[in-house]
Amino acid sequence: MEALIFDSHAHYDDEQFDADRDELLGKVLPEAGVCGILNMGADLRGCYDTVALTEKYGYIYGAVGIHPECAGDKLTADPSSEHWLEALRKLLKKEKIVAVGEIGLDYHWLEACPKERQQEVFAAQLELAKELSLPVVVHDREAHADTLEFLRRYRPQGVVHCFSGSVEMAREILKLGMYLGIGGVVTFKNARHAVEVAKELPLDRLLLETDAPYMAPVPYRGKRNDSSLIPYAAQKIGELRGEAPETILRAAAENARRLFGLPA
Ligand code: NI
Repeated sequence: MEALIFDSHAHYDDEQFDADRDELLGKVLPEAGVCGILNMGADLRGCYDTVALTEKYGYIYGAVGIHPECAGDKLTADPSSEHWLEALRKLLKKEKIVAVGEIGLDYHWLEACPKERQQEVFAAQLELAKELSLPVVVHDREAHADTLEFLRRYRPQGVVHCFSGSVEMAREILKLGMYLGIGGVVTFKNARHAVEVAKELPLDRLLLETDAPYMAPVPYRGKRNDSSLIPYAAQKIGELRGEAPETILRAAAENARRLFGLPA
């Protein structure tokens, strides 16, 4: 089988993969047709683990950044390491670290980190991406208006992952030249926005993603997700658009390589 699956957003450093990570990444996923993965750092620990994964597996690339949920006290209170932004700057110079991510705003769990602090950390990382001419991977949960404002202000290249906004917001993001990431949510029964966006999105702006270990598609909803399940989303998007799933997979892989500057 031709390897067509490019997963533009996964967390294989997550402890849910501790028991079988090597088996999965070394054997199961390549045999299932996975040709590329972009692993995300969410906190500094995850960023170092992401670098290690990219060094171990040829088809794995990485993004490093601080997720809004991880931008609170823990981040600033770590006296043992250098300033987090300097640590990121160093990691971003590594050959297979190709984006700043995942970064953004999450107003769902404000106890983890207050709004103002999230915005400060997001802005600093958008600046860093601009300085290094790197694309960004953006997380936006219940923060659509503010996210859009930051993207308009900083004009980064990149993708809004697990896109959950309306068609109107999708249009605004596309106008900025960015991509939209779609994953398992498009297969959910209640996925109104994702379905509308998947129908309308130009094929050359679509990225496929898992957000593994989270967001498994139907019929695996609620179970651990991995990149071999991406064809379920591709199938659904293909049905919505009247296109073959292979067409969707191939376009999404090409788009990921173009956006992140990866070899074919
Ligand atoms: Ni994620």
